[in-house]
Amino acid sequence: MMESVASHMKKTRFIPISSPDVSGNEKKYLNECIDSGWVSSIGKFVHRFEQEFAAYCGQPFGVTVNSGTAALHLALRALDLRPGDEVIVPALTFASTANAVMYQGAKPVFIDSEKDNWNIDPQQLSDLISSRTRAIIPVHLYGLPCEMGQIISITEAHQIPVIEDCAEAHGATYRGKPVGSFGLIGCFSFYGNKIITTGEGGMCVTADALLNEQMRFLRDHGMNKQRRYWHEEVGFNYRMTNLQAAVGCAQLERIDAFIEKRRWIKEQYNTRLGGLGCILPDDSPSARGVLWLYTLLLPQGTKAEQRDQLVEYLAKHQIESRPIFYPVPDMPPYKKFARPVPNAASISERGISLPSFYTLTEDDIERITEYICKWLRRESL
Ligand SMILES: Cc1ncc(COP(=O)(O)O)c(C=O)c1O
Repeated sequence: MMESVASHMKKTRFIPISSPDVSGNEKKYLNECIDSGWVSSIGKFVHRFEQEFAAYCGQPFGVTVNSGTAALHLALRALDLRPGDEVIVPALTFASTANAVMYQGAKPVFIDSEKDNWNIDPQQLSDLISSRTRAIIPVHLYGLPCEMGQIISITEAHQIPVIEDCAEAHGATYRGKPVGSFGLIGCFSFYGNKIITTGEGGMCVTADALLNEQMRFLRDHGMNKQRRYWHEEVGFNYRMTNLQAAVGCAQLERIDAFIEKRRWIKEQYNTRLGGLGCILPDDSPSARGVLWLYTLLLPQGTKAEQRDQLVEYLAKHQIESRPIFYPVPDMPPYKKFARPVPNAASISERGISLPSFYTLTEDDIERITEYICKWLRRESL
C-alpha cells in the first residue's frame, strides 16, 4: 500500500507557480549573438528590443536595463530625487517599488489599496500629497491597471510626475491605452516569471526625449558620450546585454499568444472556483488586465495561518502556490514609514497566488482547483 502511494506521488507532475516558455526564436537569436560575438551590451537586439517594446507600450523611447528594480531606480534618479523628498508608493506591492525610493535617500509614503482591485486608492492621494511629494508610483498589481483616469487628474492638478510600475502588467490597457503610456516614465521587469522575460531585465519607456537621454547617460556610468572615461555624474552600470535583448525580441513576437493563454487560464480558474466565497480577480469596464499570477482572496474571516496551511497542503500535492505580498510597511526596513493601511492588511492575510504560465494545461487547473475546493470544504484532507 505504502509503495503504491509513493509511486503515485512520483508520477504526479509537479506544477510550479510559474515557468517561462522560450520555445520561439530565442535560441536562433541567441545563436546569432554568439556567432557574431555581440554578447555584451552593444548589439542590434538591444536597439531592436528598445524600439519594439516602447512602441508596444505606445511610447517613442525605451531604455533597457538589467532589472525592473534598476528601471525604477533609474527613473527616480533621472528625476533627481533627493533625501527629504517624498514619493507615494502602494503599501501592497513587491518591495522593489519602495526600495527604489529609499536608494535615493527619499521617503516612501505608503498608500492603502482599494478593496476591489487591490491597487492604490486614488481617493486617498490628495491627503497624502505634501509640499515634499516629488513623484507617485502606481503599481498595476497582478496585471490589473490602476484607476489611471483619477490618478492622472489628481497628479496633474498638483503637477506631480507619475512613474508607473508596470513590472506585472505588460500589455494591460486602461480605456484602451497601454500601461506605461500614462506616466512620465513606465518601468517594466522581464524577470523569469513575468509576462515576457529576458531572464533578468527591465525597461523604462517614456515620451520625454531629455529623460530618455538622461537615463541612457546614467545607465552607462554617467559617462560623457563624446569624451570617453570622463564622468559627469556618479552613474550606474544598469545595462542589458545583447543576449538578454535577443531573448526579449523573441518573447515580444509571441506576447499576444502569452496574454491570450493567460486570459484563458483566468477564466478556467474563475469558472471552477466561483461560488466558494472567494474573491476572484476581475477587470473593470475601463481596466483590461493581463493575468500575471492568478491571485484570489480566500473567504472573509480566513486567517493568514489558514492560508499558509493551504499553501502547505497544495505543496504536499506537488502544487506550488504563494501568499500574496505582505504590506511593505510591516517589514523591518520600512517600519519607520508605517501608517495605517487596513485594506492592504486584510488583502494580504487572505490572498494566495496560483500557478499561471503559458504551458499550464486544463488537467493541471482541474487538479489544482479540485484540491482547493476540497480544502475549502474541509473534506477529509
Ligand atoms: C511590482 C514590482 N515592481 C518591481 C519589481 C522588480 O523587478 P525585478 O525583479 O526585475 O527587479 C517586481 C518584480 O517582481 C514587481 O513585482
